[in-house]
Amino acid sequence: MPTTMRTCPVMHYDHRAVQPAERFEVWRELRGKGPIVWSECYDGFWVVSGHAEVAAVMRNDATFSSAKTEDGKGGQSIPPFPWVRNVPGEYDGEEHDRLRAVLIPPLSPKLIEERRPIVGGIVSDIFDQLQGRETVDATREIAVLVPAHSMFTFMGMPREDADTLGLMVHSVNGARGDVDVQATLRAIEQRMLDEAAARRAKPTDDIISLFANYRHESRHLSDEELLSVMVTGLLFGGLVTAAETLANGMIYLDRHRDARAELIAHPERMLNFVQDLVRYVSPAVVVARTVTRETVLGGQTLQPGDRILCNLGAANHDQTVFADPERIDTSAWRNNHLGFGVGPHFCPGAPLARLEIEMTLLELLRRMPNYAIADLDHLTRGLADPAGGWRPLVLRPHG
Ligand code: HEM
Repeated sequence: MPTTMRTCPVMHYDHRAVQPAERFEVWRELRGKGPIVWSECYDGFWVVSGHAEVAAVMRNDATFSSAKTEDGKGGQSIPPFPWVRNVPGEYDGEEHDRLRAVLIPPLSPKLIEERRPIVGGIVSDIFDQLQGRETVDATREIAVLVPAHSMFTFMGMPREDADTLGLMVHSVNGARGDVDVQATLRAIEQRMLDEAAARRAKPTDDIISLFANYRHESRHLSDEELLSVMVTGLLFGGLVTAAETLANGMIYLDRHRDARAELIAHPERMLNFVQDLVRYVSPAVVVARTVTRETVLGGQTLQPGDRILCNLGAANHDQTVFADPERIDTSAWRNNHLGFGVGPHFCPGAPLARLEIEMTLLELLRRMPNYAIADLDHLTRGLADPAGGWRPLVLRPHG
């Protein structure tokens, strides 16, 4: 318990209990209490929601560690995610740099741009399947599929796996007691280890083969590292976030018909839209850190061992930085938001995510310019979490 508790705002804030539709309101409430508050949930942690304070934490991994310890404490989640240590997310310093280096070549902006035609083909195939339909479940049949089919293609696995393993990843992420999380994770792990073993025996030119045969100073990744980089790095890191952004992009462009008309007239502005959509949605809504030495943040003194939750959503809607945070800005490329993080752990998948979302929304507006989403009012003002919660998002292609 922090010594400063008597002087700092205290709140019963449980980020895991916040419903997606309440997010904007909760973020406003948090910011209204100041850039940093103490929450009594999960044995107590600091909640940081000011843009400047969140950026300061994320940039400084010497004072704010991402590392998970051997006994499963610390790391990027509160409470800690009950699974192996996340590679490279739950490492600091040189060890983090060594593990992150595995991911950089296959996700480099140049390579991803070269893959634009492949993602375009995937998007086109998915929309071909929807031809002539009266209604489409936009979550399951578009938002979840595009990132999954793209990722499995780059991993060198059949696209049918995207419909099985990809959906298993979403089911774990959105589990509300209805899924056996451990058994599902074990099935995903086993399949990925088998794929890696096959590529160690016979290398191919896909991402799994690159990871499986990666060497740093003549050492391969351990099985645990390899598994984590494939499962938490690519699958959990890449599928759910992109799907949630896409689904909310479709909702936003139905609620804001002026923005839709603008993007139909100016498709070249779509990339600006996508970049700011990630700020607006902030699908990686919270990330945790552990304080390593006494420090002052937002006027509070933090002690070694204190846990911190950076609320990226609240920081991305901080009105001292973003004047009209619930409006998506297409006029310029905004690179000052924290939706993809900042500092040493900045998301290496950002170019791929942006490409998938950009191509899907462009295709949606080209093929279904008059689409409408049913029951839009029931989605309320906040964000929907159709990818996590499995609620169908019924889209009528012809309005
Ligand atoms: C809209 C989509 C995405 C969003 C909003 C997003 C967000 C983020 C954020 C906020 C972080 C920093 C976490 C931290 O500092 O603790 C991060 C890291 C990471 N992301 Fe993404 N991500 C997205 C897509 C992807 C994709 C497509 C991939 C994989 C291809 C990916 C792989 C990763 C990995 C491996 C890390 C850890 C990097 C490190 O620790 O050095 N992400 N992401």
